[in-house]
Amino acid sequence: YVTDTAYVGGDVSEPERVWFNPFSPGFFDDPYPHYKQLAEEHPVQDHPLGFWFLSRYDDVLALLRAGQSVEIRNMADGPVRQQVDAVTAGDQVSVLTASMLDRDPPDHTRLRALVTKVFTRRAISALAPRITALVDAALDEMAEQGSTNLVEQLAFPLPFAVISEMLGLPTVDSTRIRDLSGTLVRSLEVVTDEETARAIADANAELTVLTKELVAWKRANPADDLLTALITAEHEGQVLNEDELVAQVILLYVAGHETTVNLIANGTLALLHNPDQLALLHEQPDLAANAVEEFLRYDSPVQQTRRITITPYTVGDAEIPVGSFVLACLASANRDERVFGPDAHKLRLDRKEARHHLSFGGGPHHCLGAALARLEGQIAIGRLVRRFPELTLDGDVRWNNRINLRGLTTLPVKVRAT
Ligand code: HEM
Repeated sequence: YVTDTAYVGGDVSEPERVWFNPFSPGFFDDPYPHYKQLAEEHPVQDHPLGFWFLSRYDDVLALLRAGQSVEIRNMADGPVRQQVDAVTAGDQVSVLTASMLDRDPPDHTRLRALVTKVFTRRAISALAPRITALVDAALDEMAEQGSTNLVEQLAFPLPFAVISEMLGLPTVDSTRIRDLSGTLVRSLEVVTDEETARAIADANAELTVLTKELVAWKRANPADDLLTALITAEHEGQVLNEDELVAQVILLYVAGHETTVNLIANGTLALLHNPDQLALLHEQPDLAANAVEEFLRYDSPVQQTRRITITPYTVGDAEIPVGSFVLACLASANRDERVFGPDAHKLRLDRKEARHHLSFGGGPHHCLGAALARLEGQIAIGRLVRRFPELTLDGDVRWNNRINLRGLTTLPVKVRAT
């Protein structure tokens, strides 16, 4: 791997060493050989850019469970902290920093309890008929068109519609909101250039204003939806204040579609690249639930998450000091041969241990929307392959070139063999 010095920085004391580098050639097409090499040779990497990078399953899981901090402001002085400060001039990096995703206890416990109260398993499973209807309508259009970009036809619109309807948001101006949210999620990556950081700050500001307007409108027009429930949610005498409400709504909204799109599209691509597994799914449709776990494991929609150490933290021989920014690579952990066996890099829909993947994280911040994502994934991919048994790729795919929320912008498919 060629190290891109613009990314790694000038101060590389061991230039021959392989550093985690998403700008190494071919990374966005297939990051897994890079992760594999890191996991084998440098599983605990003290990166010159000022963060630690963990790539083995046990280390990633232990960190997620360890109760270290998620608050970005808890970073000690270091290159990552300085970069964040330089581009934000001390302002909030993203509205997501006021969401549960970026809060420690006791705030996290309180916010999560309030949202869990309304975002219930029952509310989610009640959505199955609506999700099925949305999927079938998209498949009807596909049947007419013959060939299509599956991302635009199904993988993106489905979770976007589901979370919008669940929250009770009007779908007006959805293109703008889609762009804003696409920019905002870049804040979940280590941002190394000022232009991106500025774009994130601008998207953050605009999305916050839009959401405040929506909340005000919803207060005046309450309905049977999640946003109304969040406005009135009370837990142990506490309610969400205005800023907290806006942050949780944006988190649900963004997390609700920017991730599931990648489950549906990356999962479908994995199937099309593995015709034997597609045939297996046709033979055994009851594999659908396990298949979704395997899609999540095989090509994780969220590739990494991060913690800031608030106690000295030991991983193997490495002592990670307090205040370190640690990236935990979920995607690499999911391919760990020590856990998933020598064929960890293969797609196997009947893999028993598939559900041990870390794609939804673990510990106190474990994904709150996992049940919804699984339901959408199962219905979308299940019905797609049943409806179009001859589904094939119809040209080159295009990746979104994101370091964290790995997915496709183009997945050309043909519904009938010609
Ligand atoms: C948290 C992945 C879908 C809502 C997380 C985390 C991961 C994740 C890895 C934990 C981050 C950490 O520990 O630092 C995914 C994936 C999804 C998905 C791969 C789809 C395939 C959803 C959906 C929703 C959602 C559909 C809601 C509509 C949340 C929330 C949190 C979260 C609220 C924060 C939980 C907390 O901080 O306590 N998700 N997610 N996610 N996710 Fe998801």
